[in-house]
Amino acid sequence: MCDNVRIGIIGTGGIGKVNARALDANPRGEIVALCDIIPQRMDGFEQELGREVRKYADFGELCQDSEIDAVFVGTPNQVHVPAALSAVRGGKHVMCTKPLSDSLEPAIGLVKEAEESGLVNMMSLSTRFSPESLYLKHQARDGFFGDFYYGRARSVRRSGIPDWNEGFIEAGGGAFRDMGVHVLDTAWWLMGMPKPVTATGVSGAKFGPFGTGYTKFRTPPEEYWLRYNSDDYAGGFVRFENGIGLQIESFWACHMPPEVQVELFGTDGGATLRPVRMFSTDNGAPKDVKVDIPSSWSGSWQNIAEHYIDCILDGVECMSPLRHGLIVQAMLEAVLRSSESERDVLLDELLTID
Ligand SMILES: NC(=O)c1ccc[n+]([C@@H]2O[C@H](COP(=O)([O-])OP(=O)(O)OC[C@H]3O[C@@H](n4cnc5c(N)ncnc54)[C@H](O)[C@@H]3O)[C@@H](O)[C@H]2O)c1
Repeated sequence: MCDNVRIGIIGTGGIGKVNARALDANPRGEIVALCDIIPQRMDGFEQELGREVRKYADFGELCQDSEIDAVFVGTPNQVHVPAALSAVRGGKHVMCTKPLSDSLEPAIGLVKEAEESGLVNMMSLSTRFSPESLYLKHQARDGFFGDFYYGRARSVRRSGIPDWNEGFIEAGGGAFRDMGVHVLDTAWWLMGMPKPVTATGVSGAKFGPFGTGYTKFRTPPEEYWLRYNSDDYAGGFVRFENGIGLQIESFWACHMPPEVQVELFGTDGGATLRPVRMFSTDNGAPKDVKVDIPSSWSGSWQNIAEHYIDCILDGVECMSPLRHGLIVQAMLEAVLRSSESERDVLLDELLTID
């Protein structure tokens, strides 16, 4: 086994650079190639890296580069599956930003191929890998919560529709796949990843198609917002095996205060994520439990980069495989389909994978 991972970044926009910086800062990681359809983005990041890297306009070519071991996919949602599939077919380990996909069926095919390949496949999930989530996961493993029976997950922006990439607002984008995915994933993971059974929900677009609700109350050019073809809010409920329930809400824009929150209800304890607060009882009296997140713990991006590299070089079991991204995507898509069909949606009918 070699002692360094040579990494190619597909999509050198906002999230591509954030992940690339963390991967490159890891003593066992090295960015050796970039791919973007906008050459200036690659040039700018190459300058930041301070050394020459190989640059590709076509991710298919990057994935055939024999001097690359692993890739990170940070393109708009619509390109995640084709780029990740190309990586797997080229024999590269693959890490993908959230959401796994713009729709469910292609994502199922990707997960099957990725798992059969034996390569490392991982989701880059900044909320799951945050110190706050990792701390609550430790508490859950130590039995603080008892049995989970209910959760709430919401992500609310007052005026936060992305105005920098049409992928966000076109079909396959939307608030629920962009933001709902973080809190849904984190709540589901902390609750022990129960099997989803049904989902119900409502969704729509009350701001984006009318040119309002964009990031920081800016108004993008009309030709941008006329392309709006996704949700800007969604709310729903997922019912899991054993009667566990999870309420999920996501708003890119609304007349409410901004908030990102996960709330966990267990038979012995409860908690919130932001900030982390923990509640229990002591001899029948309410007890607010002291929260003590070690200040030495690293941030999300460093944790993600280190874990990806540890999985590749040391064979560590991946704590966020693409399969998790797929199950979360299935819940998201089920809520959105429930809104369209005005009925509950059965997860077994959507998630056709062993
Ligand atoms: N916290 C997080 O994990 C987090 C935060 C922000 C965005 N994201 C995700 O990252 C993705 C990108 O978001 P962003 O804000 O970085 O957008 P962005 O527009 O800043 O970056 C996307 C980049 O991909 C490039 N691209 C598009 N099509 C391509 C193709 N076929 N081949 C190669 N490159 C291509 C674009 O030119 C652009 O540079 C989205 O899926 C989003 O959900 C995740």
